[in-house]
Amino acid sequence: MKGVILAAGYGSRFLPVTKTIPKEMLPLINKPSIDFIIEEFLESGINEILVITSRRKKVLEDYLDREVELEYTFKMQGASGKLKKIPPPEAHIFFVRQKEMLGVGHALLLSKPFVGHEPFITAYPDDIFLGGKPPARQLIETYEQTNCTVLATIYNPEDIERYGTLAIAEDGLHITDFVEKAPKGEEPSREVSIGRYLYTPEIFPLLEEGLKKHKKGEYNHTYSLKQLARQGKVVFKRIEGERLDTGEPEGFFRALLVYAQTVPELKNVLKNFLAENELN
Ligand code: G1P
Repeated sequence: MKGVILAAGYGSRFLPVTKTIPKEMLPLINKPSIDFIIEEFLESGINEILVITSRRKKVLEDYLDREVELEYTFKMQGASGKLKKIPPPEAHIFFVRQKEMLGVGHALLLSKPFVGHEPFITAYPDDIFLGGKPPARQLIETYEQTNCTVLATIYNPEDIERYGTLAIAEDGLHITDFVEKAPKGEEPSREVSIGRYLYTPEIFPLLEEGLKKHKKGEYNHTYSLKQLARQGKVVFKRIEGERLDTGEPEGFFRALLVYAQTVPELKNVLKNFLAENELN
């Protein structure tokens, strides 16, 4: 299975830093968030990855390349610790640029020649998971059991109006409809979609059809998902593990704290800070 990372967005919730640094490069200490997605893909058996970027994301291509000069310097110095940290992930990584920010549906269409006739996983780099079974693997397992498009979900988030909500069929597995950002109180369920999707190539003709009908503003995937859902071809998988939403500053900060707990030196700093400061 192949993977697609949607990394073309403006990252406007993180302005001003995102004027020059892609949101996907914002690090949890020293590790850019795109690394977490690529690791998840690799751990899920996905090693052909397309990154959909834009003209202001050039640094992503450099980051995922080798740094031969540093490799040479550290080798000469015998600095094996530093040397270990710089090779790019062992994946086949491809890039395509979205030339105009016309939305996720438009970006997905750019992956069509790369994906071919196989199912594929799309990831929004805003959603990361630390440890546990990788979400992409969880989606693949659900696909193997159902042969359907699979939406990754979480249940009943506080800010539910920010999400796409699912109308769930009687079997408790398929979905009958998908409502993007339903007004509060009008959600068809409390099950919401997060940034991992296992699509089949059936999505492409529907994306093209929807794009023709689309009038103005960003074009997303809602039309296509609704069509597939009505045909009984979409299921959901509530993802095991804690989702960290690095797409907005509070969620990013929380992700930092969670990450800090996994690194002994950082955990100590956090412990001492909490002991020394009254947070109320
Ligand atoms: C996007 C999707 C939405 C999904 C959300 C998850 O919204 O359109 O269906 O629930 O990601 O984070 P966005 O965050 O781009 O507004």
